[in-house]
Amino acid sequence: MEDPIEKVQWNKYKQLFPDRYLDRSYFDDFKDRMVTENLDILDIGGGVDGSLSSSQAMKNNAWILDPFIYNTPIPRGYTGKISKIEDGGLYDLIIMRGSFNYLVPLEIMGLKKYLKPAGKIIFNTFINPSEIFRPYFINKKFTGYEKTTYIPDSTKENGVIWHYLIPEKGKIIEHRFFYYCHNWIKSLFNGMAIQNKKDKNTAIYVIQHTFEETKI
Ligand SMILES: C[S@@+](CC[C@H](N)C(=O)[O-])C[C@H]1O[C@@H](n2cnc3c(N)ncnc32)[C@H](O)[C@@H]1O
Repeated sequence: MEDPIEKVQWNKYKQLFPDRYLDRSYFDDFKDRMVTENLDILDIGGGVDGSLSSSQAMKNNAWILDPFIYNTPIPRGYTGKISKIEDGGLYDLIIMRGSFNYLVPLEIMGLKKYLKPAGKIIFNTFINPSEIFRPYFINKKFTGYEKTTYIPDSTKENGVIWHYLIPEKGKIIEHRFFYYCHNWIKSLFNGMAIQNKKDKNTAIYVIQHTFEETKI
């Protein structure tokens, strides 16, 4: 029997994922305020179009790093793509929109060395690893059901979420990502200034190389 489940293809994210993930969010307003002129920016996990498409990215030197996007042009307004972080430079701002939870702890801990002295990392994440089973919509049309299963790790504080899109037609699409609790996030950025702001079950984080104040 053919396997009814396939792994996510990130190149097709916009076509296959529920509308709710593509909607403009609280994080977008925040990110757009942070993207001021003449910054060197790295967008990690920006997808096909880049997470800066709604910002003033073109006035900046913006690079994208997304190892799971293949054979697509450099997104509009970006300077270029890099295939690994070591190939880039130092940044004023590292942005992760909906992508922080895909990085393994070693990748996250390594980010600090790619920041300029006053550089910042901003990202969004979720607060509780709740399990869901709900209908999902693409272009406002009912498409199928979305389901997640949470598997805590040995610490019981962090874990892995398995995510399934179960469309009415076609194969089930599977992928997984990490759940990192607030204390673990603090330890991943040990020695840096950490601020966070909550909005329902999501949180915005600003991580700063130095202790300069940022209002969030
Ligand atoms: C949920 S999508 C978010 C895409 C886009 N930032 C947005 O908000 O629409 C997650 C993205 O993270 C990327 N990704 C997954 N693992 C990654 C990793 N280890 N390093 C960088 N990007 C990664 C995927 O290829 C995908 O484009």
